[in-house]
Amino acid sequence: MTTVAPGPLVAPDVAITAPALSDGLDTPCAVVDLDRLERNIARMQASADRSGVSLRPHAKTHKSVKVAELQLAAGAHGLTVGTLGEAEVFADKGVADLFLAYPIWASDAKARRIRELHERVALRVAVDSVEGAEALGRAAAGSTRPLEVLVELDCGGHRTGARLDEAVAIARAADRAGLRTIGVMTYGGHAYAGREAIVPAGADEVKVVSRAADLLRAAGFEIAVLSVGSTPTASLPVPAPVTEVRPGTYVYHDRGQVWLGSCEPDDIAFWIATTITSVAVPGQAIVDAGAKAFARDTLRAAPGLGLGLLPTLPGVLREVNDYHGYVEPRGPTRGRPGEVLPLAPNHVCPVVDHYAETVMVRAGRVVDVWAVDARGRSR
Ligand SMILES: Cc1ncc(COP(=O)(O)O)c(C=O)c1O
Repeated sequence: MTTVAPGPLVAPDVAITAPALSDGLDTPCAVVDLDRLERNIARMQASADRSGVSLRPHAKTHKSVKVAELQLAAGAHGLTVGTLGEAEVFADKGVADLFLAYPIWASDAKARRIRELHERVALRVAVDSVEGAEALGRAAAGSTRPLEVLVELDCGGHRTGARLDEAVAIARAADRAGLRTIGVMTYGGHAYAGREAIVPAGADEVKVVSRAADLLRAAGFEIAVLSVGSTPTASLPVPAPVTEVRPGTYVYHDRGQVWLGSCEPDDIAFWIATTITSVAVPGQAIVDAGAKAFARDTLRAAPGLGLGLLPTLPGVLREVNDYHGYVEPRGPTRGRPGEVLPLAPNHVCPVVDHYAETVMVRAGRVVDVWAVDARGRSR
C-alpha cells in the first residue's frame, strides 16, 4: 500500500474548492460543474486566439459529444483523438475533422477502419517511422484522395516521435506510400515534471516543430500544420510558427493542473461524488470510490500526496481496492457514514473512462446528464 507523507496539506491543495453537490446523488458518480466547464473552454479558446493558433482539443479527457460541441462552438477547429474508436464515435456524431495524434500500426482490422473513416471525414494521422508510414499507406491504398499525415518528432518527452534527422526520410516514405505529409507535430509531455519544467518544455516543442518544418520544406514538402501542446504548455502564449495547439485536460482540469499552476484552485470542473461507507477502522474513512470508480494516478510532481483530494473533509485518498477507497483525514474529523463528499482526481482523464455519464450541475442543482460517448473505446 502507498504511504502518504503525514502532515498538513500544502498550499495549492488547501485552496482547492469543490462546487456545491446536489442532494440525492447515487454515488460514486461523475459530477461536472457546467459554469466551470464553460469558463475553462472559453479561457483556453481565448488563449489560443491571442496566440493566433488553431485550437484542436484532445477529446480523450471528456470523450463526450456534448462537451466537444461546446468546444467547437467556442471556436475549436476539429478534435484530437487517441484511438480509432474515439474517432469513430465523434465521426458518427458529425465531427468531420479529426487528428489521430499517435503513431498507429495500421494492419488488418485497423487498416479497414482507417480507410472507412478516411472516406467519410477529414482524418489526419501521426507517423514517426518509415515502417509506420508504409503500413498506413497500405491501409489507405485505393482511397479516393490521399490520407494526410503529420510527422511526429520527440521534443524531450521520450515517448513517441522521431529524431529531427529522420523527419525527411519518414515524409519521403509517406509520399512513396501514397500519403500526403501536411505537417509536423510534437507533444512536450516533460512539462509535467513540475512548474519549472513548463516553459522549457514549451520552448522545446516550438523549436522541434520549427526545425522539422524547415527541413521538410527544404526537401520539397508543403508544410501547413505545426502542431504542439499540452494543457500546461498551451496555457501560456504559443509563438509562431506554431499553427495549432492540442490541449485536452484543460476542459475539466484536475489536482495535477492546480499543482502545476495551469489553472486556479476553483477551476476543477470534474468531481467524483463519493459516500463514506465505513469508519469502523480507526484513523481512516472508507468511501465507495475504489479502483473500479477512480484511477491510481499519483501526482508526478508531488508523489507523496496520494491519489486524490477530498477538500471538504479535508482528506486525501491514500489507496484504492476494487470497491473501497481509503481516506486519510487531514483535519480533526474523518466524517460519518452516509456523508457524500466531492473527490478531485489527480489526473482526470483515466477517471472519466470509468463512467458512462456525467451529472451536470449548476450552482449545486442537477441540470442534465450527459453521455461519455467514447468511454471504453481504447482501440
Ligand atoms: C499527443 C498528445 N496531444 C495532446 C495531449 C493533451 O495534453 P494534456 O493532457 O496535457 O491536455 C496529449 C495528452 O496526453 C497527447 O498525448
